[in-house]
Amino acid sequence: MTMPEPPLGASDGSLLAGRRVLISGGAGRIGAATALAVARAGGIPLVADLDPAALERVGECLAGWPHHRIVADLRGAAGIQACLDAALAAAGGVEAAVHAAYPRSAGWGACFEQLSEVHLAEDLQAQLGGAILFSQCLLRHFAACGGGDLIHVASIQGVAAPKFHHYAGTAMGSPVEYAAIKAGVIAISRWLAKYHRDQGIRVNCVSPGGILDQQPAGFLERYRADCTNIGMLEGADVAATIVFLLSEGARAINGQNLIVDDGWTL
Ligand SMILES: NC(=O)c1ccc[n+]([C@@H]2O[C@H](COP(=O)([O-])OP(=O)(O)OC[C@H]3O[C@@H](n4cnc5c(N)ncnc54)[C@H](O)[C@@H]3O)[C@@H](O)[C@H]2O)c1
Repeated sequence: MTMPEPPLGASDGSLLAGRRVLISGGAGRIGAATALAVARAGGIPLVADLDPAALERVGECLAGWPHHRIVADLRGAAGIQACLDAALAAAGGVEAAVHAAYPRSAGWGACFEQLSEVHLAEDLQAQLGGAILFSQCLLRHFAACGGGDLIHVASIQGVAAPKFHHYAGTAMGSPVEYAAIKAGVIAISRWLAKYHRDQGIRVNCVSPGGILDQQPAGFLERYRADCTNIGMLEGADVAATIVFLLSEGARAINGQNLIVDDGWTL
């Protein structure tokens, strides 16, 4: 795996100063970039993912930085608790968490007319239910420890309707349940932030635009035309924002959804 250099700001080794950050989906595009950015900012990434081989590759990228890797299935409460227990056993504490796991059913990506009840239920449970259960487990831990930071990863698709013309002539699309899940993730972040007031807990959300991943040229051109300076993003663009939200400089930011999209939603 090759990971791009984080933008300036994410490489300040004092920003996170030893904070232990549990990153779910830590071997994915956004998760792995976040793990690297956390390490470069002086934090200790605790990288949790379902995919052991991908975790090994992230470990190679993190060689030389303190970190831990945890194989975990984070769709349900038992797996999430086992992951937290493993993180605590390995690192001795967890002060922050980023939920970037992205489980998808076999039916993910079906067009609206073909959406099956079974796959819909599975994706709503794994992605939105999983985000709630991850929050429940981590916030219970943070409350017991006197505080902590939780970051959810939503999407521009939870903020605005898709620009369907971008997908013309490609096999790509943007599922209706994805919009519902991501709008839900933004809503639960607000809810959780307010629910945990006076406990030293912050819950924030980032809504990234699309991440570069060998998409067709026509799609990239149409997407770029609706942005301001960049178009599709690198995982590191999102990771830098997450590091900021985890830092002391963001201590007054709570319950917010920070859109990182080069102006796609404008
Ligand atoms: N890629 C984009 O363009 C984009 C844009 C906006 C928002 N997002 C959001 O960012 C988040 C991360 O997306 P990504 O692009 O990094 O995805 P990705 O597919 O690259 O990574 C997701 C990771 O989650 C892991 N995972 C899947 N099921 C799991 C499970 N049951 N338990 C533990 N780990 C599991 C996978 O192994 C993978 O490493 C998602 O919530 C996604 O909706 C992505």
